[in-house]
Order: sequence, then C-alpha cells, then structure tokens
Amino acid sequence: MTNSQKTVLVSGGAGYIGSHAVLSLQQRGYEVIILDNLVYGHRDLVESVLKAKLIVGDTGDRPLLDKIFQGHDIDAVMHFAAYAYVGESVAQPAKYYRNNFMNAFTLLEAMMAAGITSFVFSSTCATYGEPQTTPIPEDHPQNPINPYGMSKLMVEQALKDFDKAYNFRSVIFRYFNAAGADPQGRLGEDHSPETHLIPLVLMAALGKRESISMFGTDYPTPDGTCVRDYIHVNDLADAHVLGLDYLLKGGKTEIFNLGNGNGFSVKEVIEAAREVTGKDIKAIAADRRPGDPPALVGSSEKAQKILGWQPQYADLKTILAHAWQWHQKRHQT
Ligand SMILES: NC(=O)c1ccc[n+]([C@@H]2O[C@H](COP(=O)([O-])OP(=O)(O)OC[C@H]3O[C@@H](n4cnc5c(N)ncnc54)[C@H](O)[C@@H]3O)[C@@H](O)[C@H]2O)c1
Repeated sequence: MTNSQKTVLVSGGAGYIGSHAVLSLQQRGYEVIILDNLVYGHRDLVESVLKAKLIVGDTGDRPLLDKIFQGHDIDAVMHFAAYAYVGESVAQPAKYYRNNFMNAFTLLEAMMAAGITSFVFSSTCATYGEPQTTPIPEDHPQNPINPYGMSKLMVEQALKDFDKAYNFRSVIFRYFNAAGADPQGRLGEDHSPETHLIPLVLMAALGKRESISMFGTDYPTPDGTCVRDYIHVNDLADAHVLGLDYLLKGGKTEIFNLGNGNGFSVKEVIEAAREVTGKDIKAIAADRRPGDPPALVGSSEKAQKILGWQPQYADLKTILAHAWQWHQKRHQT
C-alpha cells in the first residue's frame, strides 16, 4: 500500500510545528486532515499553503472526534495540539492539565473506540527537568519542574500503559527548541504572544521590538548565557514522517529525542542573527528566570539509528536565515 492511500489526522496542524509536518506528510503522499481549534493556529496558512481539509474543533470534543473517525478512513493520528507556554503553565496549571493531558486522553479514547492504534506524540525536553548529564539521552530521569512538562509526561505515561494493555502503539518525540522555517518561506513561526528566542531576536532586527533581553548572564556556561539545542522545524517534520512510516510498518512503541546534539548560547544566537540579518540587534542583560537550566542539549542518536533520521539543517545560521526570510515576509509592513 502506498502512502497516498493512508490518511493521517493531524491535531494542531494549523500551528507552527504541525503545519510544517502537514507539508512534509503531503510531500510524502499522505492524505492529511487537520483538527485545530485555531486558538493559536493560522487558518490563512492552511488555506493558502497546505490546502488540507481543516476541521475547526477541539481535541476535547468527544462527539466531534467520534464523528471524524466514523466519517473518514484514518490510519493514524499525529498529535501536536497543546498549550506550550511554560510560565503560563505555572500560573494556570489547570489550563495545562486540561488541554495537554485530559484532551489528549479524550483523543486516545476516541481513537481506541474507532480501532485506530497508531499515534505520534509531541512531547518535550521539559519532561526531563534539570539535566544530570549532557547531551541528555532518552533514558535520563524525568522530573519536570513545571506543569507544562508534567502534563506532557502524564500523556507519555498513559501511552506506555496503553501499549502494554491495549497494543496501542506510539512514537513519542521529545523535542528540544524548535526553530527556523520552511526553506521556501511558505510557513514559519508566528506565535502570539511570542516567547522563543529566535523569533524575538528577529523581531528586534525588523524593528518591531526595541531590544532583546538576555535572561541571566552569569550561568556556568562559556559566555555566561543559557545554552540551548535548536532544531530546524523541517528536520522535526521529517522525523515525524519517519516515525509515522515506522509505526505503520508495525514498529513498536518508542521514545526519541529530537535535537541537534549541540548547543548555542543566547549570546551566540544573537551574534549569528546580527550576521545573518545585517542588523544591529540591541541586547540587554536581565535577571535569570526561575526554572531555566544553564544548558539543555539532547542526544538524538536513537532517532538517527532506529528511524534513519538525519537533520538536514543543523547549522545555526541556516536556521536563522530561513526564519529571517519568513519573518520579513510575514511581519514587514
Ligand atoms: N515550539 C517548540 O519549541 C516545542 C518544543 C517542545 C515541544 N513542543 C510541542 O509541540 C507541539 C506544537 O508546538 P507549536 O510550537 O507548533 O505550538 P502552536 O501553538 O503553534 O501549535 C499548537 C496548535 O494546536 C492548536 N490547539 C491547541 N489546543 C488545541 C485543542 N484542544 N484542540 C485543537 N487544537 C488545539 C492551536 O490552535 C495551535 O494551532 C505542542 O504540543 C508543544 O508542546 C513545541
């Protein structure tokens, strides 16, 4: 059976990472149906770029899910829909446990009722908490330090138990920092509010922000600023397609980190952005934020070995150049 005969429901497919995954799936011949409540998603990108069927609705809406599964021949679900603001999760944990855990759980139950047992899940390096070793391997202890990370870990736990009890198979991807944009400039990151470093730096380069704050300049890192592992969103999208292929060929439940295995400091990102954009980006030293580990870098050797995944855009300047192309197009008036 070819991919063109397989249909995937992509929750959160109108969002940043989900939309890139939809494009990759379409390029590999999969049929895609997007389920997104558009709280943060972009209808314009779905309609103009993806041209996939968009169902505007919520993953917590069980009657809607039953209708979708009864009305379409769906082979697998890729689940991106969630809230992902760490600070907000500390202030409003109920919102995060409801959307990220309970709504995911409703989706899993609806899938099982419909006999669909292949699931690709967006988890996060935030499930690890404070790293004890770097680069972080998948078997590193998981002690999330915020409700966002815990809400994702709870889904991971449910998936492990479902695997044992119901033969419900999943690929769990723990991403590090998603960054960059479609190399052809069709899709990119457009969060509101935006909290991620690279888009904020580029908004400063565009003159939409006065400066960029460096939270903590006295960390035990080479230049004192936090080090993070930036992974190109297209590489993430490719990994999802490989993970799905793996599951549909009968692969067993597995967990994979998705990162580049090397880290860049806040100062390095800002300096590289100055070079890529040719703009003088003003950076201001600010206090550390609670709960920010000095360095978060993941080992993705397992995904490379088992899925044959190979990041194509590991170079920071390439990631920045693609994001810059997108931001100029999306935000320059
Ligand atoms: N961006 C990152 O660096 C990063 C890192 C680790 C993990 N993740 C995870 O990846 C996933 C996608 O992140 P993103 O950056 O693309 O976020 P995003 O906000 O751009 O995309 C999420 C999409 O899900 C939709 N959505 C949210 N709750 C929904 C619900 N209940 N029903 C239907 N649609 C719903 C939103 O409208 C949005 O379009 C999330 O699960 C996030 O936790 C992201």
